[in-house]
Amino acid sequence: MDFKEQIIRLYEEKPADYTSAHRELFNQFMDQLNKGVIRSAEKQEGTWIVNSWVKMGILIGFRMGSLAEMGWSSSKSFFDKDTLPEKQVFLKDQIRIVPGGTSIRNGCYIAPGVGIMPPAFINVGAYVDSGTLVDSHALVGSCAQIGKDVHLSAGAMIGGVLEPIGSCPVIIEDGVFVGGNTGIYEGVIVRRRAVIASGTILTASTPVYDAVNDNYLPKEAGKAVTLPENAVVVPGSRPLKSNHEFSVYCPIIIKYRDEKTEMSVILEQDLRQSLD
Ligand SMILES: CC(C)(COP(=O)(O)OP(=O)(O)OC[C@H]1O[C@@H](n2cnc3c(N)ncnc32)[C@H](O)[C@@H]1OP(=O)(O)O)[C@@H](O)C(=O)NCCC(=O)NCCS
Repeated sequence: MDFKEQIIRLYEEKPADYTSAHRELFNQFMDQLNKGVIRSAEKQEGTWIVNSWVKMGILIGFRMGSLAEMGWSSSKSFFDKDTLPEKQVFLKDQIRIVPGGTSIRNGCYIAPGVGIMPPAFINVGAYVDSGTLVDSHALVGSCAQIGKDVHLSAGAMIGGVLEPIGSCPVIIEDGVFVGGNTGIYEGVIVRRRAVIASGTILTASTPVYDAVNDNYLPKEAGKAVTLPENAVVVPGSRPLKSNHEFSVYCPIIIKYRDEKTEMSVILEQDLRQSLD
């Protein structure tokens, strides 16, 4: 039985007692998540595919773990499932972690060259690629997939999607700029180099209007939208269908990235780590 099948079988079996072999299997699984060898979602021929079995593996950790003292700070105690400690990061990992309250849960991949400002929280199953900056008070939720050279500004909330098991996590592709105080949740996919203006909130229920092409982005029932490449999305509103006296929130693609946008979101390379 291959590794994936072993994880699926253990997830489905739900044994009353977990053995040391189960623990060993789970530790191998976490090791592969830490190295970015396995991912909860991956792009195949332009389409994002959810690896439900990876989510199953993470959930095994919650089931199998028992509450234990985490031994992290000398002045404060922490208690969590003993299967899900903090991720240990070393200088050789070449991740810049500014001191002050950041927490990175074990079982996530963070590429060399990522910068993390305090306090940030990066949850299990997340994947953060090289050159990305995770600013203060930013959340990278469980299983969220963050591409290369992404800017997650202060207070950007990238929601976690661990359940239902087959649901798509939030995906932020390469070069996306996520402005301050934004929220991207429930399987929203943001394609390459899109710009999410500060204060924009996107959920599976949020319709997005494309003012350039004069249409709403296509959306399957219960599924979140996919924001197109280079879209610049700002907070907006639309009249309530049942009563035009009122408006509801509706983010708007105000334009597609142009020179003016480049100036607005220009990033300071000195703040990023050169790995050359
Ligand atoms: C989206 C953003 C990058 C502006 O992009 P831009 O390409 O420079 O946009 P422009 O100034 O050309 O504006 C284009 C249109 O969008 C509107 N617009 C721009 N930003 C907007 C916003 N945040 N909310 C609502 N409307 C906005 C403008 O009013 C303009 O509309 P108009 O053509 O009807 O007048 C900017 O608003 C933004 O959110 N920056 C991020 C700030 C941030 O979070 N920084 C974090 C690091 S500190």
